[in-house]
Formats: sequence, C-alpha cells, structure tokens
Amino acid sequence: MLKIPLLGRRRNLILLTIFYFFKPSTSDIVFQQHFYDHRQHYSDYIPIYTDGSKSDNHVGSAAVFPDFTIAETLHPFCSVYTSELYAIYLGLLKISTLNFKKAIIYTDSRSGINALRSAKHNTHPLVMQCLHLHHTLKKSKIKYCWIPGHVGIPGNEHADKAAKSANASREAFVPLMPYKPLSYLNIEYGKESGTGSQTINFIKYSLQSKVPLTVLMALYNVARNKDIQIQAREELVEYLPTKDSKYCSLNISPPDIIEHIVWETLRFSPPIIGNGRIIKSDMVLGGYNVPKETNVILHFQVASLLEEFYSDPLKFNPNRFKSASADRVKKVFAVGSWRACIGSRFASDTMFLILLKMLRNFEFSYDGGEIAMINRLHNEPEKPLFLKLKPLPE
Ligand code: HEM
Repeated sequence: MLKIPLLGRRRNLILLTIFYFFKPSTSDIVFQQHFYDHRQHYSDYIPIYTDGSKSDNHVGSAAVFPDFTIAETLHPFCSVYTSELYAIYLGLLKISTLNFKKAIIYTDSRSGINALRSAKHNTHPLVMQCLHLHHTLKKSKIKYCWIPGHVGIPGNEHADKAAKSANASREAFVPLMPYKPLSYLNIEYGKESGTGSQTINFIKYSLQSKVPLTVLMALYNVARNKDIQIQAREELVEYLPTKDSKYCSLNISPPDIIEHIVWETLRFSPPIIGNGRIIKSDMVLGGYNVPKETNVILHFQVASLLEEFYSDPLKFNPNRFKSASADRVKKVFAVGSWRACIGSRFASDTMFLILLKMLRNFEFSYDGGEIAMINRLHNEPEKPLFLKLKPLPE
C-alpha cells in the first residue's frame, strides 16, 4: 500500500525549438525541408506525433507512433487545449509501456508546449500528469518539440486526421486532480520564514493539496463502492431536492453519510502520512528508549489500517461511523492544541459541500486498477486517476 519515493533531482523536460520562421510568410516546403534536416540529426530518437482537435460535438486526441496510432475521444466539454495535452499524455503513457530508449514528441500546440515548459507553475491536471509520467520514465530520454501544423509534415497530418476521426470513447473523461503536489513547491516553501508567512503557506497548500486530494480519494472510493454511492444519493436528496438546491453548512449539518464518507476517506486514503514532532526530552515509546531531539512521527496512515483500532480496516466502509466515534480519525488534523490544524472545520465543511454537490449531480464510476499513495510531504496518487462522471437526471 505504501510507496516510499526515492529522493533525487527531478529531470528537466527537454524542449527543442527548431522552427523560428514566421508561419504566414514561409512556404510549406521550407518547413518540410527544415523538419527533415532535424529528423536526420535526431534519427536515433523515435518520432511520436500528437494532436488534438475540437469541433461542434467532437473532441479527440491522437498520438501517432511509427507502427501504430492511438486515438481517443474526450467529453465534448473539453477544450482544444485539453485535447492537445491529452494527446501528449497518451504518447507518454504508451512510451511507458514500450521501454523506448529515446523518443521525441512532436506537437503543433504552442500552448501545450508552453505549458510543459512552465510546468512547475502550471496546475492544469494534465500538465501535472505529463510531468509526473515524464519523471517516472527514468530509463527513456524524451524530448518535446513544437512543429507547425498543416504544412505537410506527414506524421502531423496523420495525427490531425486521427484526432478528428477518433471514436474510441473516453466520453466522460474529465481531468480531475486539481492540486499541486508539494514536491514541486518545496523550494518555494523553504524560502519563506517567520510564522506569518508559514501560516499563509500552510493555508495555501492545504487548500491546494489536502482538501482536493481528500475529495478526489473520496470520489474514487465511492466510485468503487456503488452501494455506498446509492445510499449517499438517497440520503442527500432530502437536503438537496434539486440539482441546483443551495446548501449552507452554517445552518444545518450534512447528511450523516456525507460526513461518514469524509471520515472514512481520511482513515482509508489520508492526504498525509501523519504528524511529526521533535521530542524535547528522552522518552520511552512502545518499549524503546528514544533520545531527545528525535523526530517522532505518529504514522496515521499505518495506524488507521490496523485491526487494533478498526474492524475490517482494509474495507472502505463509511457506515462504521454509524456506531463508532470518528474522534480517532480526526487526529489527522494533529494531536493536542499546539500547532494543530486551525483549518480543520473549514476543511471538513468544504469537503462536505463539494461531495454533496458532486454526488447530487453526477454518477461516478472508475474502471482502472487500485491506486496506491506515494508518500511525500503530502501524499499523492501513484498514477493519474481518471474518474467517469455521468450527469444525473434532475
Ligand atoms: C484534509 C485537510 C487538512 C488536513 C488533513 C490538515 C492537517 C493538518 C495538520 C496535521 C497540521 C499540523 C502540522 C504540524 O504541526 O506538523 C495542520 C496545520 C495547519 N493547518 Fe491544516 N489540514 C487540512 C486542511 C487545512 C485547511 C483547509 C486550512 C486552512 C484553510 C489549514 C490550515 C492549517 C494551518 C494554518 C496550520 C498550521 C497551524 C500552526 O502551525 O499553528 N489546514 N493541518
């Protein structure tokens, strides 16, 4: 269940810029010639052409490899930018299964390539997922290159056609994972000093990471447990009779099942491993002599999966809190009063509200494999997590 990442420098994305010409005043043949020169130079790199397309009712993405093409449709709500990024993502995903030693991804999307270039400051979930995949492909050398579209570069033309005619459906695909893993922000975090800025950082990062991650994992768990999803919808219809009904947590508490889903998610898939403290005096902990100045971590993520504390701990079962107190789970917001989470009430209310609205409006399903957590300062799913959302009737 737990994965400890290896620490090390993240590899930079290598972006090639080969076209400096002004498109309207350059003939296609010049672009083609320039591209063939470039390919000769990089002949040991496998070319992969990606493209996205959007028309009235169709959004598609394609990645063209030398021997085959992958093309998928996205939800019609997705933008052309999302389709371009998704095409790059499709390319990377396939590379990860093929063990290519060297590859270049060619895209005609300037915004896509710019997003990858500034990926550290970009929170688009697909940019994050591309970056994440890129970093996991340690054994492959991958470069990215912008090429002009519609100038007769065969791979690009092929990718364009494949994206337009894609019919393998990812119909309800919506990139969900709108949080920024702290691993990309550590340096920025370390630069700040003083309690004031630390607190501001904590608020910023908690809202950007822990709350969205908990909601994401709650929806993932609910998507995998249809009976809980149906129970939740039945209970919350009383609170939100129509899809756009308002809910105000200051006046009423949420339906029990929503609270229980949040507590169970914090137990089963917590956003952090636990809480650490440097002890000020020697102590005996669990029969061990622990000298002062040791960093002691209450490993919430492990403790909450022990039979000692919960019955049938490896089952996602929000209903356990019908009869048991959730006090132990709430320790995820830290123990004691010193430096405990001052945002716990705000965090819980936000999570209740998002879940209420999401479950009232959509049916969630998930058809990927089990997702484990990677422990960083804040946890993150080990791989991209795609949920399917189907709008519910009124
Ligand atoms: C699921 C969501 C959250 C979890 C699990 C969580 C957990 C924690 C934990 C364990 C700490 C103590 C850290 C330590 O002392 O080592 C903490 C501190 C803190 N949290 Fe949260 N938190 C969450 C959401 C939030 C939100 C939404 C906010 C703000 C709106 C927030 C604001 C803070 C602040 C300001 C501190 C620092 C308190 C201090 O240093 O005195 N947290 N949180």
